[in-house]
Amino acid sequence: MNINTNRTLWLKDPHTLQVLDQRRLPHEVVVQDLSSTDKVVWAIQEMVVRGAPLIGAMAAYGVYFALRESLVFGTAQSREAHFARSMESLRQSRPTAVNLFWALKRMEQALSTVPQWEAKVQTALQTAHQIVEEDVELCRQIGVHGLPLLEQISQTKQGATVNILTHCNAGRLGCVEWGTITSPIYQAFEQGMNLHVWVDETRPRNQGANLTAWELSQRGIPHTVIVDNTGGHLMQHGMVDIVLVGADRVTRQGDAANKIGTYLKALAANDNQVPFYVALPSTTIDWEIADGLREIPIEERSPDEVKYIWGWNGHELQKVLLTPAESPALNYGFDVTPARLITGFITERGVCPATAAGLQGLFPEA
Ligand code: MRU
Repeated sequence: MNINTNRTLWLKDPHTLQVLDQRRLPHEVVVQDLSSTDKVVWAIQEMVVRGAPLIGAMAAYGVYFALRESLVFGTAQSREAHFARSMESLRQSRPTAVNLFWALKRMEQALSTVPQWEAKVQTALQTAHQIVEEDVELCRQIGVHGLPLLEQISQTKQGATVNILTHCNAGRLGCVEWGTITSPIYQAFEQGMNLHVWVDETRPRNQGANLTAWELSQRGIPHTVIVDNTGGHLMQHGMVDIVLVGADRVTRQGDAANKIGTYLKALAANDNQVPFYVALPSTTIDWEIADGLREIPIEERSPDEVKYIWGWNGHELQKVLLTPAESPALNYGFDVTPARLITGFITERGVCPATAAGLQGLFPEA
């Protein structure tokens, strides 16, 4: 099978979107075929694919499939009803990453001036492709702007190892290519910088242990997986030079939602004067809200993700129970790091303070 592993999703033919199944990594590289809006929604909900920019790109192809599916209906009314139902199921797939809603809005805008259904299908496809190509470039630019931060640390340390701590996966697996936090890391590593990444395992879904560690291994980048509670200790002992995390939604005043546990890393970084940067494309900024704690919807997922854990038994992936079967568990997917704990944002247009003025300075049109 011809797997384009530089990308996390690609269109195999007009009927088939292919994605890397992230539930199986790092143990198996499996490609899933998705050929309907329902399958796209399933893949987002089950976290076959995950990460804010990638969820946005997936939603765009979900809209394309919804329009293709509509063509089987004879009347405009039934086509519109199918399309509206599909849009609603995409909207309901996951609540926190704003890229999903951004992508749906962008698709609706592109379609609003196209009256013919057949032409809408083509417009949807072109717009989805554009979203994908733009994401690649946004992430590359994040790397260009984030690189000087790493270079500065490397110079201060006179070439000694730059230790970066990250949480969850904000690498290329969360995007289309490059990733957000990994883009400056890849670019620094290619230039020969001496660096090392502390990878939080990121319970309960272990995106750090499974995905970030795999990505870094693939590129030969030195890294060490740590349990989520280790970061504070490392920071107290001068073993972390910078924390780099991604985001699922950043408000216009600079509060940032990211994978559960990010806030605790920000607190520890603040207490130890370790710079804490959030790397994000502008598609992750929600300009409509200010107060992240009150206004960002936090996903609550199945308690089973806490109670059970998946691992490789030498032959196959296996799910085992961790807790007493009768113990209840609680599974919030994200937390909000207040702007005051964030040193700055690394975006495609540059680095700015985590303030309303900082974001507005980079994106005056918003
Ligand atoms: O639940 P997930 O795996 O979708 O959460 C992903 C994150 O929290 C990432 O840090 C974020 O989406 C940024 S991906 C560039």
